[in-house]
Amino acid sequence: RKLLHRQLAGERIIVVSNREPYIHIKNSERIEVHRPASGLVTAVEPVMRACSGTWIAHGSGSADRETVDRHDRVQVPPEQPEYTLRRFWLTREEENGYYFGFANEGLWPLCHIAHVRPIFRSSDWKQYTAINQRVADAVTEEAASDDPVVLVQDYHFALLPKMIRKTLPKATIITFWHIPWPNPESFGICPWHEELLKGLLGSTILGFHTPFHCKNFLETVDRCLETRIDHESSTISRDGNLTMVESYPISIQWPSPWQETQPTVLECRNAVRSSLGLAADHLIGLGVDRQDYTKGILERFRAVESMLKRHPEMAGRFTFIQIAAPTRSVLEDYRAFEDQVRDLAARINGRFSTGSWQPICLKAEYHDPEEVNRYYRAADVCMVTSLHDGMNLVAKEFVAARDDEQGVLVLSRFTGAAHELHEALIVNPYHIEQTADALYQALYMPDFEQRERMSSMRTLVRDFNIYRWAGRMLLDAARIRQREKLAMRIN
Ligand code: G6P
Repeated sequence: RKLLHRQLAGERIIVVSNREPYIHIKNSERIEVHRPASGLVTAVEPVMRACSGTWIAHGSGSADRETVDRHDRVQVPPEQPEYTLRRFWLTREEENGYYFGFANEGLWPLCHIAHVRPIFRSSDWKQYTAINQRVADAVTEEAASDDPVVLVQDYHFALLPKMIRKTLPKATIITFWHIPWPNPESFGICPWHEELLKGLLGSTILGFHTPFHCKNFLETVDRCLETRIDHESSTISRDGNLTMVESYPISIQWPSPWQETQPTVLECRNAVRSSLGLAADHLIGLGVDRQDYTKGILERFRAVESMLKRHPEMAGRFTFIQIAAPTRSVLEDYRAFEDQVRDLAARINGRFSTGSWQPICLKAEYHDPEEVNRYYRAADVCMVTSLHDGMNLVAKEFVAARDDEQGVLVLSRFTGAAHELHEALIVNPYHIEQTADALYQALYMPDFEQRERMSSMRTLVRDFNIYRWAGRMLLDAARIRQREKLAMRIN
């Protein structure tokens, strides 16, 4: 946190993302504040609290329009305000085109290799472009100087950097792409791939989670645009603008926000088991995801099934709890996926359950982060089996929650997290039997081995926490600003 303050030295930063960090929901006369299930929000919120400034995001709660519309800025967090949240508003039609359509039916499947065919509609593209322009105007309004620091978040805003650059040529624009970047052949199928690349190249710095995603991006630019690429410094120059492409693996807050107040591991273990009517020594596996087809939830259930088939003695001794927050349910693919998750859990439960015991406990609803933290502390094994994922912060949250240095992480090799958390049991989630074996191994891993693995993963998450992520980007930005100032003086 201190490092961040030094780097910012009085600057007010502007963050832009689609998802807002606090959603105000009207529940009869009361207004409830929800924290959305979003890796991006989990990561960026502590940074914003440390830096202050303005966060521009889409207003999505039912109470927002009534309470905030008149003066569309609110101070948050509600309990102890530390920065300004400015919402932008979308009509149903705009949201369908920009968010559900182009961002989530086009770019999301385009960038995640999850074998879901992207859909590209000209009408969605039109909305996407218009909303990017609206947000660029909001950034210009919020800028207190002609060279603000703007942090642009994710695939909803690929066009924004170029648009901001047009009105604020001296701005330092740091764009972070939270999802994977595919190879040039895959990306090239998007009818507007050139516009997207040109938009992103308005950035001063463009960040990805892994060097592999950077490499894919550089290759895509090389294939599709006339630019000069310097591989040594990982920079791209185009139309007099220089963009540095770099990997910054995202992380989480450390120590965890509940460090002081959370119940002990034993209390969490007992509470979760007794709420399900299970014995104190009952083994628990855990999955925590948005119900998204990229997360490998079906593959994970099949691995549980395969494990139970091969180890029938585990019946009645092990339960897999899946917390699955509904997401983007307006889209057909997501609704169909929710049905598949429910049906598969029911089929597996039908096959193995005896008496009151069921192998899979599906909790298909939103859980707040503090509650999720208690499940992390109660579990023997956490399974992250994404088919493709930029980073996956559930893996890091599980590690951060385990100050008892116990618990085993089973982790898909197709996550960014697998490049850092080498002591997890790394699996290919498409290989059901291999994942089942890893689950079984995890359940019977000796305590000393759990401790060894967990403590080295904890050291990594502690040392490379979210402040380090933001700090590295801001430090690189500060160096570039300094260089530009010197260059101007020389000229
Ligand atoms: C991923 C994306 C984020 C997004 C989050 C939740 O982590 O990278 O941009 O906020 O999923 O999805 P949602 O569509 O609900 O914002």
